[in-house]
Amino acid sequence: MRTDTGQVFHLEDYKPTDFLIPETHLDFCLRPERTVVRSTLQIKRRNGVAADAPLILDGDELKLVDIRIDGTVLGDNAYVATPDRLEIRGLPENGTFTLEITTEVNPTTNRQLTGLYRSSDVYCTQCEAEGFRRITYFLDRPDMLSVYTVRIEAERSEAPLLLSNGNPKDKGTLTNGRHFAVWHDPHPKPAYLFALVAGDLGVITDTFTTASGRHIDLGIYVEHGKEPRALYAMDALKRSMKWDEDVFGREYDLDVFNVVAVSDFNMGAMENKGLNVFNDKYVLADPDTATDTDYAGIEAVIAHEYFHNWTGNRITCRDWFQLCLKEGLTVYRDHEFSADMRSRAVKRIAEVKGLKAHQFPEDAGPLAHPVRPRQFREINNFYTSTVYEKGSEVVRMIRTILGPDLFRKGMDLYFERHDGDAATIEDFIKVFEDASGEDLSQFALWYDQAGTPNLAITYDYDQATKTFEIEIEQSLKPTPGQTSKKPMHIPVQFALLGAKGRELKPRSAKGGLVKGDVIHLRKRKERFSFSGISERPVPSLLRGFSAPVTLTSELTRSDLAFLARNDGDEVTRWQALTQLLNAKLTSNSKRVRGGKPATIENSSIKLLGEIAFNATLDEAFRALCLSIPSESDIARELGANIDPDAILGSRDALISAVAEAHAEKFAQAYNELEQKGSFKPDAAGAGRRALRNVLLDYLSVAESSSKRAAAQFKNADNMTDRAAALGVLVQRFGDSEATNHALQAFEARFGNDPLVMDKWFVVQAMQPGNGALDKVRELMTHKLFSLDNPNRTRALIGAFSSGNQTGFNRADGRGYKFFAETILTIDKKNPQLAARLLTAMRSWRSFEPVRREHARESLATIAMETGLSADVRDIVERTLA
Ligand code: BES
Ligand code: ZN
Repeated sequence: MRTDTGQVFHLEDYKPTDFLIPETHLDFCLRPERTVVRSTLQIKRRNGVAADAPLILDGDELKLVDIRIDGTVLGDNAYVATPDRLEIRGLPENGTFTLEITTEVNPTTNRQLTGLYRSSDVYCTQCEAEGFRRITYFLDRPDMLSVYTVRIEAERSEAPLLLSNGNPKDKGTLTNGRHFAVWHDPHPKPAYLFALVAGDLGVITDTFTTASGRHIDLGIYVEHGKEPRALYAMDALKRSMKWDEDVFGREYDLDVFNVVAVSDFNMGAMENKGLNVFNDKYVLADPDTATDTDYAGIEAVIAHEYFHNWTGNRITCRDWFQLCLKEGLTVYRDHEFSADMRSRAVKRIAEVKGLKAHQFPEDAGPLAHPVRPRQFREINNFYTSTVYEKGSEVVRMIRTILGPDLFRKGMDLYFERHDGDAATIEDFIKVFEDASGEDLSQFALWYDQAGTPNLAITYDYDQATKTFEIEIEQSLKPTPGQTSKKPMHIPVQFALLGAKGRELKPRSAKGGLVKGDVIHLRKRKERFSFSGISERPVPSLLRGFSAPVTLTSELTRSDLAFLARNDGDEVTRWQALTQLLNAKLTSNSKRVRGGKPATIENSSIKLLGEIAFNATLDEAFRALCLSIPSESDIARELGANIDPDAILGSRDALISAVAEAHAEKFAQAYNELEQKGSFKPDAAGAGRRALRNVLLDYLSVAESSSKRAAAQFKNADNMTDRAAALGVLVQRFGDSEATNHALQAFEARFGNDPLVMDKWFVVQAMQPGNGALDKVRELMTHKLFSLDNPNRTRALIGAFSSGNQTGFNRADGRGYKFFAETILTIDKKNPQLAARLLTAMRSWRSFEPVRREHARESLATIAMETGLSADVRDIVERTLA
């Protein structure tokens, strides 16, 4: 394990390497505990580099077995090898030579799940970001592009399947039951995109014909017997390939594209060239075992990894500070893909919810960092919501600012100019400047300044001159390492709404820059004045969530209700409703704490009823509107002095009031929404189920009875409805007989299916209140629980710490204490996983003083531990700073 060296890496220290590695030949002799890797590198010193410059390669826990240059074994004093570094001096004068390195690794004992490891006996690799150096010594950095040839040899009975990147070149039988395969990838790539898979797996195959008529062989490899559950992923893959041709003009570039599903994986999936490796959670689905959310996740992740083939692989990152160059852009692309496959508005609202739930708190807390950070101690800790989701929003803003045609022109130029490059954010911005002639230098601050800007908005309508004025003041709070901030270029998409939501078209706009339906805010404070507005309008601002900002506006409750009823943009419509509900929920959270009863306004209840029964609205949209902001949504709105018990009380009071007011009609709608016949995982079906399942929760509250949920659980013919019913049972009827009965039935039926059992652990970890901690402790001793498997660990420990507001953030601090102990245990096996889980505590300073002090103590306990991984050390110290 890499322990902390205290070393900090800085963007401004970037320097190209002294040597190039145009060709890499890898030879793997696979054995469970003693795999031998022989790496043959063609090395060239760069022009202008001194002849005595040493070659220094990266390693991590490596054992060197043999080393040769141009076939001659190196003498002991020609090199210095440690587990994490290989330095060679006295290199051949002309600077061109062949370096052969033999290392030995143990895939079986590798529980960090980076480098070469085994998952259920399958050999697999994970090299991003710095895992390749756990396989062999190398210049393990993304700007070191090399052409790879890989030979794999293994026991045929143990590993009939031998896969690597690129196209298959050769295969054959050896003596002693062993066999081999050779793969060649003609596209130069960085080491983080290398992959190898060897094992005994089932497969489904298909073909895709590209726009230019090339035939691609597609394969998805899964555990034997699970092949039918990969069909949806295959369908999503073919749709992704077609979409990237249609929307971005990008064709696939190898003869084969393989996807392998493994059950032990730190992340969601990995875009290795021609050989994507997936967490099986993002491959396997059928109606009986996967929810609508799982299906949507598979579609998105398959698309995302496939899209990396151009945005990430053909054009990669110069260094890891540029991570958003591939991740932000590829998230933007997978968002657009899902929007085209499903309902665009519903997809966009889900993105906004996700951004606010994950990225806004990151920006508001001690771990805040720019979309392109300028320094890091551990790169693994920068695969964050800021780099990914905010990075995607920044790309979306470029499109909003330039318009769709110039955006596409810029993307075309990006692919044309930088194909085969290891590029930077500056390169990316430049293609849009060159394609459009616009100056994007102020816009580029989005990559540099951390924190979520707030827009304070005031309005003024003058009936006499028929002029409407909007004044916007932007502000950005200090974040770690950035005390003063500059004003940014913020695109605010808008409409001015008259009676019944009709859009009023201004005759002209004066003051700051307005183009079409976009206000371009560029100064700290700017006025925008619209003439020819015949009635006092209600402004609909930030349509489509055109910028990742918060708004403070002087809209009245009645303006918000007007928007919630009439706004033609579903995102602002949903936002207005949410703002109305949040105002009540937050003030009631304070009241409940003060011992005063919650007050619920009839107008909000009426409004929710109108939306619920408005058949002209998409069912999925109605479901989103009826889902009352979550406990953590309310906590985020409150921002400080948080008491999760008060929040739960406030939220439940609103749910009860809505449920009681509409019980009868909800029951009728619940019955009507039942779907008979075969399950389809499409947007329409998912929307109906989502709406029906929100109603189930309301009805269970109104009826104070678990009967309805128990019946739905029993009769469900798909996992979406079954899991939703189980959720209601656990959330609302805690330790009742009905709940325990359902949990037992679920375990009896799905006990052999790890992905389904993860749901069983999640739902119990989320049980509200003080009973949860003991439940989690008890489940840790369950025969199916193991801290070795990331999915299972996230299901229990992750769901408890990041999803259970009241159960985790107990007033007595026992939740935090348990968590600190567990993090220390996980850190010894899998530092990346431990560090990621620990980010659940990033908002500890927003709690009321008693919880805050308990949280600080637990974080301090972790920080005091000696031998912490670099990953956890980095997170805990920044969280406490
Ligand atoms: N390149 C990442 C996977 C990765 C991240 C590997 C960090 C190693 C370290 C991949 O493309 C990715 O971004 N995966 C996401 C899912 C995606 C849909 C956002 C993931 O794994 O969460
Ligand atoms: Zn990615």
